[in-house]
Amino acid sequence: MDIKGIIFDLDGVLCSTDEYHYRAWKQLADELGIPFDRKINDRLRGVSREKSLEIILEKSSKSYTEEEKRRFADSKNRTYRQLLSELTKNDFPKDVTDTLLRLKKAGKRLAVGSSSKNTPLILERLEIRNLFDAVADGNDIVHSKPDPEVFLLAAKRLGLAPRDCLVVEDAESGIQAGKAGGFYTASVGEAARLGLGDFRLGRLGDLLGMI
Ligand code: BG6
Ligand code: MG
Repeated sequence: MDIKGIIFDLDGVLCSTDEYHYRAWKQLADELGIPFDRKINDRLRGVSREKSLEIILEKSSKSYTEEEKRRFADSKNRTYRQLLSELTKNDFPKDVTDTLLRLKKAGKRLAVGSSSKNTPLILERLEIRNLFDAVADGNDIVHSKPDPEVFLLAAKRLGLAPRDCLVVEDAESGIQAGKAGGFYTASVGEAARLGLGDFRLGRLGDLLGMI
């Protein structure tokens, strides 16, 4: 195995914005009187805003029009962006920066591959865009994970073939997407707890001993 590039998921891998997604969805679900908990939330990891809403509405006794659904998704996104507005570069863990810098020093090319349309905002708030050679996100794709589209685009932007890249993910859908695209996969967080991926990482720094 000769890994030349590493493609990181954003929410729940590089930063803890997965928690903000949870809180914003929880607020919407409470307003609508729909049961929603962390177990259901794990199914939303890596999945687009619209698909996430569909999963939440599975527990609703009512059916909603497309217009209502659009309003719900917009409302969740407003709550989410409100939470993001409090992010600063101090919220980006120092050990993650150190890991990324050491990987770059070792000659690895680094990318972000996220389903989120808020990726540019998060990279800007955390002031980490310049750590990456390429970014592919929810604004660039039609199909969110488990479709491999976002990772294939990230690899293309790195100028590398999937077999030369490792995808790092916290979502089951993300590990599936990595596999479907022909990438090596490493799991953290929820995906690691489920025992998914070619490699399981306790923390991002474990990458340093691996490749
Ligand atoms: C993924 C998250 O990174 O982005 C999902 O894991 C989220 O939970 C998806 O639904 C889309 O995010 P956004 O910011 O475009 O609503
Ligand atoms: Mg994630």
